[in-house]
Amino acid sequence: MNNFDSICRDIEKGIEPDDGALKLLLELEDEAELQRLFSIAYDIKTRYVGRKVYFRGLVELSNICTKNCLYCGIRKGNSKVNRFILTKQEIVEETLWALKSHYGSVVLQSGERSDPEFVDFIEDTLREITLRSEGKLGITLSLGEQSFETYRRWFEAGAQRYLLRIESSDPELYHKLHPADHSYEERVDCLRHLQKAGFQTGTGVMIGLPFQTTENLIHDLRFFQKLDIDMIGMGPYLVHPDTPLAEAMPEFEAKRKHQLKMGLKMIACARILLKDVNIASTTALQALDSNGRQQGLLAGANVMMPNITDTRYRAGYQLYAGKPGMNENSEESKISLEQSILAIGETIGYDEWGNPKHFYQRTGKE
Ligand code: 5AD
Ligand code: SF4
Repeated sequence: MNNFDSICRDIEKGIEPDDGALKLLLELEDEAELQRLFSIAYDIKTRYVGRKVYFRGLVELSNICTKNCLYCGIRKGNSKVNRFILTKQEIVEETLWALKSHYGSVVLQSGERSDPEFVDFIEDTLREITLRSEGKLGITLSLGEQSFETYRRWFEAGAQRYLLRIESSDPELYHKLHPADHSYEERVDCLRHLQKAGFQTGTGVMIGLPFQTTENLIHDLRFFQKLDIDMIGMGPYLVHPDTPLAEAMPEFEAKRKHQLKMGLKMIACARILLKDVNIASTTALQALDSNGRQQGLLAGANVMMPNITDTRYRAGYQLYAGKPGMNENSEESKISLEQSILAIGETIGYDEWGNPKHFYQRTGKE
C-alpha cells in the first residue's frame, strides 16, 4: 500500500489527515488519484450536509472601493473602471426576484466603504428587504472590513451571514498582496467581531496566487479550522491585466488547468477537514472551465451563488479578467445552473435558507 492509499484509508476510517498528508493531497497530479480524493470528499459531504445545493442570489451592488488590493480589477487605483452604485430600489427589486424564483437566500456584495452614508444605506436597504420579503429571505453580506458597531447594526437590520475572505492566512503572503496600509491583523479581528455580533461567518482564500506555496495552503486550511468558521468561499486566483500583481504571473494562460485543479483540491481538503460547513462552488472555477462549478460540487462544495445583478452593471464588476455570465440574464443562468446540477444527480434546496450546520454546532443555537 503506498502513502496515498494509506492516507485515503485513514480518512475513510475517520482519522484526520496531518500536514504531511495534506501536502501530498494538495500536490496530487495523477488523474485517478485526484478522482479518488474528490470521491472521498464527496462521500463526506453526502454524509454531513447531503447532496443538495443551496442557491444564494448574488447582487453586486457597487464597484466603488476604498481599497487597493494588488490583485483586484476594481481596486481604487484602477482608473479604467466606471464606478456605479445601485439604488435601494434596484437592490430590493433584485432580491425580490430571487425570492420569487425560490432562491432561499441572497448575497449583497460590493467594494469596501465604511463611510457613515454607506453604512446607513446598507442598514436601510436591509430593513427594506426584510420588510418586503416578509423575512423570508436569508441575507448574506460581503461588504468587507467594518467596525464591530457596524456589523452589529447590520445584523440587527436583518442580515444573518457575512463573508470576509482572509485572502491568504499567511501574514507574509498577505502583505505581499496588499499595500502597506491594509492590515492582516485587523482583518482577523473583523472575523472575530463577526462571530461575536452573531453572524454565521464565512471566510476564504485565493488559490494559486503568485508566491503561494503548498505550506501556505495548508496554513489556510488550518486557519479555517482554528477560527471555527461556518462557511467557506474560496476560488482560484485569476489575473486581471490592469492590476499590479499581473506582472508576477506572465505565464497565467498556460496555468489555467492547474489553477482549476488546485481550486478543486482545496475544496476537497476543506470538506475532509471541516465536514459540516457550507462550501461555495465559486464563479472563479467557472471562469476556468465551463463545467467548473459542477466540478466544485463533485469535489465537496454545496453552495452556489448565481449572479442576479442586472446585466447592465455586470461589466463594471470585473474582479478578474474573463468573468463568465457577463451577458447572461438571471433567468438564463438559473436554467443552465439547474440543468448542470440535476445532471450530476443532486437536488436544489429551493425556498430553503440552507444555514451551515456547523453554525448550530458552534453556537449551540437551535
Ligand atoms: N482572482 C480571483 N479572485 C479575486 N478576488 C479579487 N480579485 C481576484 C482575482 N484577481 C476575490 C477576492 C475577494 C472576492 C470578492 O473576490 O478573494 O475577496
Ligand atoms: Fe476592494 Fe475587495 Fe477588490 Fe480589495 S478585493 S480592491 S477590498 S473589491
